[in-house]
Amino acid sequence: MKKVHIKSYGCQMNVYDSQRMGDLLGPLGYEAVAGPEDADLIILNTCHIREKAAEKVYSELGKLRQLKHERAKQGGGETVIAVAGCVAQAEGEEIVRREKAVDLVFGPQTYHRLPDLLKARAVTGRAVVETEFPAEDKFAHLAKAAPKRGVTAFLTVQEGCDKFCSFCVVPYTRGAEFSRPVAQIEAEARALVAAGVREITLLGQNVNAYHGLGADGEVSSLAGLITYLSRIDGIERLRFTTSHPRDMSDDLIEAHAENPKLMPYLHLPIQAGSDRVLKEMNRGHRAEDYLKLIARIREARPDIALSGDFIVGFPGETEADFEETLAVTRAVRYAGAFSFKYSPRPGTPAADRADQVPEEVKADRLARLQALLGTQQKDFNQACLGREMPVLLEKPGRHPGQLIGRSPYLQGVYLDARGHAIGDMVNVTIDRVGSNALSAHIHP
Ligand code: 5AD
Ligand code: SF4
Repeated sequence: MKKVHIKSYGCQMNVYDSQRMGDLLGPLGYEAVAGPEDADLIILNTCHIREKAAEKVYSELGKLRQLKHERAKQGGGETVIAVAGCVAQAEGEEIVRREKAVDLVFGPQTYHRLPDLLKARAVTGRAVVETEFPAEDKFAHLAKAAPKRGVTAFLTVQEGCDKFCSFCVVPYTRGAEFSRPVAQIEAEARALVAAGVREITLLGQNVNAYHGLGADGEVSSLAGLITYLSRIDGIERLRFTTSHPRDMSDDLIEAHAENPKLMPYLHLPIQAGSDRVLKEMNRGHRAEDYLKLIARIREARPDIALSGDFIVGFPGETEADFEETLAVTRAVRYAGAFSFKYSPRPGTPAADRADQVPEEVKADRLARLQALLGTQQKDFNQACLGREMPVLLEKPGRHPGQLIGRSPYLQGVYLDARGHAIGDMVNVTIDRVGSNALSAHIHP
């Protein structure tokens, strides 16, 4: 057996892509290992979304170069180093120019060609760079069998983005919006269920813009896809992420009201609360549109947990603008959220603006926003105390008999689960709320 080490950075879609690379390499005789030492193939699956992503990759590559030389010196054989993902897509040839130890560079839309790329590298002895956006369907070329994945799994249903928010690199690294056909997704979902998966998170950069070819030959919306998948026996829970406010269609809101397998959790980024900033971000909605949307979603599913993404310090953002972000946050009451300092991404429109916000102002705003979001998350968790809810048992805990499960709202729940197994759905009452997780007891 040869050994492959895949290190994944960034979003859940990269986690999914890394798994699919592993699936491709299995038949070529590779087994996955947890560390880079002693690996015959090392893949960095990189992210380009924020701060110094490329620099971090180069510094990691410097370490791997030493490892590679050390291993060769000790007769351990050749170590092939590959850079995949969004930094690979953005940097391309530059990577092999700057770091001679790199053998392969390929983007998020070309990793299905990994076996061929490895072959080309072996035959020519030269570095191979593959960052075109190919016309063929990547997914149709990926290995079919899904090996054991645990109880929860990601499934990419949509990729790329046509929205062109002025801060965002995704349309350039992942390419144009693309939806997989329903039949292809169904086949993958069934394979996951056969491998023991009970909860599937449908992934897409813009997942609620999904419009894939339906089983009936018509275009299916995300709500249609969810309805379809929820009929598969063995799928107990469905989630989806990440959504854009503009694509939050009526049928999807209705699905949250009506489909018991669709979990009451929605990640719906607003990014900023000031209409002027939203406009300059090219978001295509105002703060008020977002709040009205949230009101409709809550009407459909009152207990829904909301999460979001925020950017502070977008070019030209004033203190007054930022306070509107705080105001929207207060109005929504998030169960959790991600917030970031604006980071100029080369090639995006906002990066060229002259009115960049000073670093210390960004840091101050981020701290204030995160303090508010932290309080809201605590409040949301606290409100779960005493509540009954179904929990899907996911993995062993640290204590004998303890298992860790997941609530409908994506919280980790610790419980004494003697007599139950991983993969079981149990009804619990939450009886303790800690800083990071909930504890509960199972109903007899
Ligand atoms: N700077 C900071 N944060 C960003 N994000 C995307 N691009 C940038 C950027 N240039 C954040 C957004 C997005 C999340 C995935 O990352 O909030 O929703
Ligand atoms: Fe990072 Fe975006 Fe690429 Fe995901 S799609 S790895 S978040 S740059």
